[in-house]
Amino acid sequence: MKRALPDLTVDQPAAGEKVTLVLHADGKQYDLPVLGGTHGPKVIDVRRLYAETGYLTYDPGFMSTANCDSALTFIDGERGILLHRGYAIEDLAAHADFLEVCYLLLYGKLPTQSELGDFGHVIGHHNMVHEQFRRFFEGFRRDAPPMAVMVGTVGALSAFYHDQIDITDTEARMVATHRLVAKMPTICAMAFQYSRGQPFLYPRNDLGYVPNFLRMAFGVPVEEYVVNPVLERAINRFLVLHADHEQNASTSTVRIAGSSRANPYACVAAGIAALWGPDHGGANEAVVNMLEEIGSKDRIPLYIKRAKDRSDPFRLTGFGHRVYKNYDPRAAILRESCHEVLGELGKKDEPLFELALELERIALDDDYFVQRKLFPNVDFYSGIMLRAIGFPTTMFPPLFALARTIGWIAQWKEMIEAPDQHIARPRQRYTGHPIRPYVPLAER
Ligand code: CMC
Repeated sequence: MKRALPDLTVDQPAAGEKVTLVLHADGKQYDLPVLGGTHGPKVIDVRRLYAETGYLTYDPGFMSTANCDSALTFIDGERGILLHRGYAIEDLAAHADFLEVCYLLLYGKLPTQSELGDFGHVIGHHNMVHEQFRRFFEGFRRDAPPMAVMVGTVGALSAFYHDQIDITDTEARMVATHRLVAKMPTICAMAFQYSRGQPFLYPRNDLGYVPNFLRMAFGVPVEEYVVNPVLERAINRFLVLHADHEQNASTSTVRIAGSSRANPYACVAAGIAALWGPDHGGANEAVVNMLEEIGSKDRIPLYIKRAKDRSDPFRLTGFGHRVYKNYDPRAAILRESCHEVLGELGKKDEPLFELALELERIALDDDYFVQRKLFPNVDFYSGIMLRAIGFPTTMFPPLFALARTIGWIAQWKEMIEAPDQHIARPRQRYTGHPIRPYVPLAER
């Protein structure tokens, strides 16, 4: 059944609409053009501001800055709406295969059956890694966090595909995107197997993208791995929900790294590094650690009190978002996935899930969270589901990276192909020492 679509029409700027900037100190006025998008707020174009006025704009953390044009993803944070290429995340999560979403993000349209078949075939034929690549893993300590292994090994892909990449060539760019989408499950599963001292398994092309990954992650060479369809669906949904999220910290990192025309595999490694932090993709791991620390429902008020205390660095991880000032639609879907997965695995009363539900209930009833519009985000429930499936907490960020790879590389490609592509080079407000003469060493 088709869902009713929300009305997202917005005021478009009138033809030639401008914003007038009055600089009282200079007694001058400047007209700045206003740009419109398909949806979302109007944008004041300040590109000529410095050249014309000598002033820079100041926006640490990019609270009010649009850094690019993008046709991939749209978020209405006030209403909790997320669209990829115009399709609502709820519809994609309910119906789409992850490779369909990859195709959608890369090519801008949903594939037909035969296009999807061809795309799956191409991805399947790039999913092995070079035999020599396997040796990189052995260089890491056994107890290295799998995310550290991912940063290193994905970065190492650039050594295997450097001379062959001419990023000015459309076909070469597309091959890089295919390779990354194809090899990431193999690398992610290898990082997991290595952390457990288990042998690496080669991918199998008679399996789909998700079953193939699950087999490489959990299988052993001595017996057949049987994929549980409920868990397959849950991982597929997890991948779809994390595929892209417009200009977040890791995606912006990939775009900025790529803007110097760097090797795309190295750019994606930079994205993995940015994702790792607990304020971004590392939050899924941090949520489960936080829930374990809270331990029982009677201790929730203590942690809520700590989260509200400015003198305490503790924050409620999995809550709050720069863009969403409403329930993150991905969190709502993942909460349902938790019910489904826990039910399938006979863990309906999983105490950590009960604790998370109660924490959400108490926080959403608290003025501090209500006033600041802090709701559960994508990371709040995902870890509970991944843990039930059998992944340790240290594997949660790598799984996020596996899913986000398509977003990173599709955004990288869009950036390189933009007609007004420039190297990303923000400016600053200098607050250091004023100019002073050099004092020779003997005179200091
Ligand atoms: N717990 C307690 N207070 C919070 C929280 C939280 N989780 N998040 C924000 N606040 C408060 C914050 O202290 C500030 O209060 P005040 O106005 O009194 O100074 C207000 O809410 C606004 O927060 P902010 O830090 O200015 O907002 P931001 O947009 O800079 O930060 C955030 C966004 C996601 C980093 C932040 O909400 C946070 O640290 N959340 C916890 C970490 C987390 O869950 N990260 C995952 C984000 S979603 C997935 C992803 O990006 O990968």
